[in-house]
Amino acid sequence: MSTETDILNLKKIRSDFPILNREINGKPLVYFDNGATAQKPQQVIDVITKYYQLENANIHRGIHTLSQEATDAYEKARVTVQHFINAGHEHEVIFTSGTTHSINLVANSFAKKHLKSGDEIIISTMEHHSNIVPWQMVCEEYGATLIVVPINDKGEFLFDEYEKLLSDKTKLVAVTHVSNTLGTINPVKAIIEKAKEFNAFTLIDGAQAVPHKKVDVQELDCDFYAFSAHKMFGPTGVGILYGKEAVLNNLPPYQGGGDMIKTVTFEKTTYNELPHKFEAGTPNIVGGIAIAAAIDYMNTVGIDNITAYEAELLNYATQQIKTIDGVRIIGEAENKASVLSFLVDGTHPTDIGMILDKLGIAIRTGHHCTEPLMNRFGIPGTARASFAFYNTKEEIDVFIEALKKAINMLV
Ligand code: ALA
Repeated sequence: MSTETDILNLKKIRSDFPILNREINGKPLVYFDNGATAQKPQQVIDVITKYYQLENANIHRGIHTLSQEATDAYEKARVTVQHFINAGHEHEVIFTSGTTHSINLVANSFAKKHLKSGDEIIISTMEHHSNIVPWQMVCEEYGATLIVVPINDKGEFLFDEYEKLLSDKTKLVAVTHVSNTLGTINPVKAIIEKAKEFNAFTLIDGAQAVPHKKVDVQELDCDFYAFSAHKMFGPTGVGILYGKEAVLNNLPPYQGGGDMIKTVTFEKTTYNELPHKFEAGTPNIVGGIAIAAAIDYMNTVGIDNITAYEAELLNYATQQIKTIDGVRIIGEAENKASVLSFLVDGTHPTDIGMILDKLGIAIRTGHHCTEPLMNRFGIPGTARASFAFYNTKEEIDVFIEALKKAINMLV
């Protein structure tokens, strides 16, 4: 058995997440599917419940007290997000429905303004479908070309190859900060710096980064940074697009509707200022407010503590899984977040996932919305354990024993 770390007060933290008390198939839940969505602490659940019990009203519209309170809470949440990612201005923080919406917003508005036939957009082999398909769609529409940076067998971004692919034709570079499938942490600061030498814009998909590490958008100097609340202990259906003020001001709106306008006549509409120009319609108000609650919670735990503790968990899990014959880890980058993708000789990931579920353990199996990455490795999918700061080494022990059992049954 392992010994527990003292970086975090695990007992207190775990008591904050009611779902961790559940049993699945008569066994204590071991939740290792945090890459898909993270669990929510009571503090976030309470904010959501209280909002609907006592505070619900529409924002930016009402003169009455409830509407003003809701507006204040929503705008305060925007400032919390601003500080969380160290954006220069709160109006550089756009509320969206999630990372996918954020990227589609940029792809559509950016293409309308900047993309023309012959231009190139660079992505990497390890992108999630949500950072591939929107770019493919606009490339097709505007006659531009999608260029893909290769990776090595460890799952690392090949910087030398990237440098060769950049040119005056490059209009935008869109890469993931952390790979959802491999856990690879990409050298995004250097990637952004290089792109700038060619006057290319940069978008970072931060969905899998913000739950695990400190992100500073000013230090990165990216033009856009996208992430979702639900992977960082907040609710589903809400996320963030950070964009530099000057860059956002220069883009056309994505969707039309209420809130994004200054004046409307049948002849002509003028658009609202940032951030509202990109926030048409009634947003996910409680979702926005709950992001702030999730950030407050993460700050209480301490983001650097989270990073350090999860590194311990990943190391421990990696060492343990390597003791099992026939296991092959997919994604062995030097710089990794707490994601452990693997295959077991002679078994299918789905069968492993199903047996683990019978033993109370939740992992994800399949292509993880990264089909081109699976093709790169010549595999149909992986089994993936992804850890959060409320997971423990004892849970990893349970997982390893269960995996051995599953292999015995299948091989
Ligand atoms: N993108 C999420 C994952 O990696 C859904 O599981």
